Amino acid sequence: MDSTFLGQEGKVVLVTGASRGIGKAVALAFADAGADLAIASRKLPELQAVGDEIRAMGRKCLEVSAHARKSEDLRNLVDKTMEQYGKIDVLINNAATNPAMGAIVDTEESVFDHIMETNLKGYFVLSKLVGKIMRDQKSGNIVNISSAGGVSPAAGLGPYCISKAGINMLTKAMALELGPYNVRVNAIAPRIVKTDFSKALWTNEKLMEKEYKLTPLKVVATPEEIAQTALYLASTAASYMTGHVVVVNGGAFF
Ligand SMILES: NC(=O)c1ccc[n+]([C@@H]2O[C@H](COP(=O)([O-])OP(=O)(O)OC[C@H]3O[C@@H](n4cnc5c(N)ncnc54)[C@H](OP(=O)(O)O)[C@@H]3O)[C@@H](O)[C@H]2O)c1
Repeated sequence: MDSTFLGQEGKVVLVTGASRGIGKAVALAFADAGADLAIASRKLPELQAVGDEIRAMGRKCLEVSAHARKSEDLRNLVDKTMEQYGKIDVLINNAATNPAMGAIVDTEESVFDHIMETNLKGYFVLSKLVGKIMRDQKSGNIVNISSAGGVSPAAGLGPYCISKAGINMLTKAMALELGPYNVRVNAIAPRIVKTDFSKALWTNEKLMEKEYKLTPLKVVATPEEIAQTALYLASTAASYMTGHVVVVNGGAFF
């Protein structure tokens, strides 16, 4: 690790959805780069296991149970992080959901609301709370884990894609507003990443045959590959990048 550009020594990094998958890989990557962590998700025992891994690396970790659809949980998460560390240098918005697949015309309003409230409103509320702190600090980095589906539509995933397109605009709008305060805001748009979230996709041989035809690198991403992109965006190596949606998709044509 080149500590000059990617190093996170002395930084405090808050990661949501950090109990598994991409969020866990992100939390471990930042700990490896020298940061102290605050990590969140709904289920505390899984979160504590990740916290133990981080402490074993010699870094501090605070675990907070927080539901992305409950603003009071997100406020408590930020308050607890500030109580423990007194600052937040990096926010990784990552916790999201997709409870149903199907055509938009067949989607119940309640399902649409559920996806918007978890994915888009959850990122908005936490970005607002942490963005204010970063504006006062006159420094900070927000990285939103979006999706390639937020850039171009994926069949059967309409509401999810709409929520991710909203996250892309949240990223650009906040980059515009917070740039003058030395706060950068970027997003990462992965295609398929090997996690529980997308297991139904990457275990479907027929679908993957088609996917690999479209993907020059002929593999799906690992959570660690997405984590390294997050580390890059939050580091001084990306000091002149803000308002970007970085597509990490193995070169897939879509
Ligand atoms: N995997 C892919 O192929 C892929 C592709 C593109 C984009 N993404 C995006 O990457 C991000 C992470 O996905 P992943 O693949 O790592 O998923 P994952 O393995 O299913 O992990 C999701 C994480 O979010 C937490 N979470 C889920 N719902 C939550 C809620 N309502 N409130 C708080 N925390 C919640 C989960 O913990 P608890 O269950 O304990 O809450 C878990 O820590 C998401 O934003 C997803 O949209 C994934």
